[in-house]
Amino acid sequence: MKKRFLTSMALAGAAAFALTACSSDGGDTGSSGDASGDTGGGGGGDTIVVGFAQTGSESGWRSANTESMKAAFSEENGFELVFNAADNDTAAQIAAVRGFISQGVDAIVIAPIVEDGWDDVLQEAKDAGIPVILEDRTVSAAADLYAAWIGLDFEAEGTKAGEWAAAEFGDTETKMVVLEGTTGSAPANDRATGFDAAIEGTMIEKIDSQTGDFTRDGGKSVMEGFIQNYGVDNIDLVYAHNDDMALGAIEAIEAAGATPGEDIKIISIDAVHDGMQALVDGKINYIVECNPLLGDLVAAAVTGVVNGDSVEAVQYVEDLAFDQAAAEAALPDRKY
Ligand code: AHR
Repeated sequence: MKKRFLTSMALAGAAAFALTACSSDGGDTGSSGDASGDTGGGGGGDTIVVGFAQTGSESGWRSANTESMKAAFSEENGFELVFNAADNDTAAQIAAVRGFISQGVDAIVIAPIVEDGWDDVLQEAKDAGIPVILEDRTVSAAADLYAAWIGLDFEAEGTKAGEWAAAEFGDTETKMVVLEGTTGSAPANDRATGFDAAIEGTMIEKIDSQTGDFTRDGGKSVMEGFIQNYGVDNIDLVYAHNDDMALGAIEAIEAAGATPGEDIKIISIDAVHDGMQALVDGKINYIVECNPLLGDLVAAAVTGVVNGDSVEAVQYVEDLAFDQAAAEAALPDRKY
C-alpha cells in the first residue's frame, strides 16, 4: 500500500514552481477559451491558462466532474481552460500532459486514470516550472512532484459500503461478485481494500471479481459473464465500484429473468442521479456517495499556487451514503 497522504501540509506554490507565460493552441486538446495573446502570467488580474487532463467520459460521475471543472475554470473566473479527455487511455493522458508542458500553460490539472507511471512526466512539468494539481484520483509518484491533490477518500467509501454489507448480509451465507473499476486506478484499488477489510470474518464470500472499467456497458457484459458462469440463482450480492456498472448489471440481471435489488442485492458507489433513481426504485440497495463537484476547490488551489499563496496540499471532500429512504429524501435536490 503506497503512503500518499501521510500529512496535510501547506505548500507555498510559487516557491516550488516558477510562473510561465503561455498561449493555448494546438494538439488534440480542446480549449474552452480563446487562445488570445495576452494570456499567461498567472494571477494579478491576468488570465490563468490551465491544461486539464481528464480521464475520459466513462461515467455519469465523470460528466458531472467535467461540467464542474469547466464551470469553475471559466473565462469569467479568469481562466483559459485547455481541455483534454483521454478516453481512459493512460498513454494518451500522459501525452496530453506533455502537450500542456510544451505549450507552456500556467498550471496543469490531472485526474490520473491510473496510480502508477506518472513520475517522469510530473518531473518534466516540475523542471519546466509548471505546477501540477491533481484532482479526483491519486498517483503513486512522490508528493513533491505536484502542488496539491483534491478528491475523495476512496478507501473510506469502500469501507462504508462494506460495513453496510456486513451489517445486512454478514450473518447469512452470501455469494458476492464484484464489478471493479479501471484496473490500476486509485478508486478501484482503494474501494476494494476498504470493502474487503469491512467484510472480513463475515459470511459474505467473494466468488468473482472483474473489471467493468467504470462503464455501464462494461458492468453489463461482466455481469452477463458472471450469470453465465455461476447461474443467476447462485449470486446473492453485487458490489459495483460505481453506479454506471451497477446500472449495467441491473440490465443483465433483468435480462436473465431475475429482480435486481431483491433476488440479487446491489451496492454501489457515486450517487449520481441515475443510480439514486435506481435506489429509489428498489433496484439498488445502498449507495455510497463520491462527490464529483470538485471544480471550485481545484480552481482555488490553482489560483493560490500560481499566485504563490499557501495552498493546502491534501484536500478531502466529504461523502454521504444513502439507503432507499435517504435517497428518496435527497433525490429532488441532487445537483448531479
Ligand atoms: O475516480 C472517480 C470514479 O471515476 C467514479 O467513481 C467513477 O464513476 C468514475 O469513472
